[in-house]
Amino acid sequence: MTKVAVWCRHQGDNVIGIGPNIPWHIPSDFKRFRRITQGQNLIAGQTTYESFPNRTLPNRKIFILTLNPDYQPSDNQNHFVVTDINSFQDCDGDFYIAGGASIYKAFMTGTEKLRPDIIVDSMYVGELNPQLQGKKIDITPCIEAMKTHYRQISQTYEKDNVLTSVWVLKNQFIDQNVLKHLINSIEAED
Ligand SMILES: NC(=O)c1ccc[n+]([C@@H]2O[C@H](COP(=O)([O-])OP(=O)(O)OC[C@H]3O[C@@H](n4cnc5c(N)ncnc54)[C@H](OP(=O)(O)O)[C@@H]3O)[C@@H](O)[C@H]2O)c1
Repeated sequence: MTKVAVWCRHQGDNVIGIGPNIPWHIPSDFKRFRRITQGQNLIAGQTTYESFPNRTLPNRKIFILTLNPDYQPSDNQNHFVVTDINSFQDCDGDFYIAGGASIYKAFMTGTEKLRPDIIVDSMYVGELNPQLQGKKIDITPCIEAMKTHYRQISQTYEKDNVLTSVWVLKNQFIDQNVLKHLINSIEAED
C-alpha cells in the first residue's frame, strides 16, 4: 500500500484555501491533479468533498472522512464514508490524499503509520485572488513535517507559476511503479 499526498500551496505562507475556495485558478494544475488521480482511490475531508462539482470526481473512488457515520455521499457505488482515519494505517491498495487542510495535517502529523509515503508538493508563486473573502487556511505544519521526514527525489518542474516536486519518506521502501506514474503524470503535456 502506498499513500500519496497531493497539494498545491502558496509560496511563503503555505495557504491552500480561503474559506471553501482555492485562491488561484491554474488549469494546468487541475489537469496534473487529474492525471495523477485518474482511476485511483482518493481520500478527501467532508468540506473538500462538498467542494467538488456535484460532489464527485469522475473515474475515481472517493473515501470521505467525516465524523458523521450517517453522511450521505452523492454516489453510493464509488464513494465511501470513513469515520476512523486510522483505518488507513494498514489497508490494501494505493491512496491519494486530496485534502483539505485538516486531512493533510492528520496524515502528516499523526502517527508514523499514517504518514504518506510520497508527497507531490506543488507551490504556486503568483498572487492570491484578491476578491476572495474568508479565513486563510494553511498547511504550515505539514511543510515543516515534510522538510523533517522527507527528501526531494525529483527535479523541480515549473509550469504556469507552479513549482512541483516529488518527496519521499526517508529510509522507507518506495513503490517504484507509483513513483513512475507520478513522474509521468507531472511530465505529461496537457
Ligand atoms: N490547494 C489545495 O491543494 C487544496 C486541496 C484540497 C482542499 N483545499 C482547500 O482546503 C480547504 C478545506 O480544508 P478544511 O481543513 O477546512 O476541510 P477538509 O479537511 O476538507 O474537511 C474537514 C472535515 O473533514 C472531517 N474530518 C477532519 N478530520 C477528520 C478525522 N480525523 N476523522 C474523520 N473526519 C475528519 C470533518 O468532517 P465532519 O465535520 O463532517 O465530521 C471535518 O469537518 C478549502 O479552502 C479547500 O479549497 C485546497
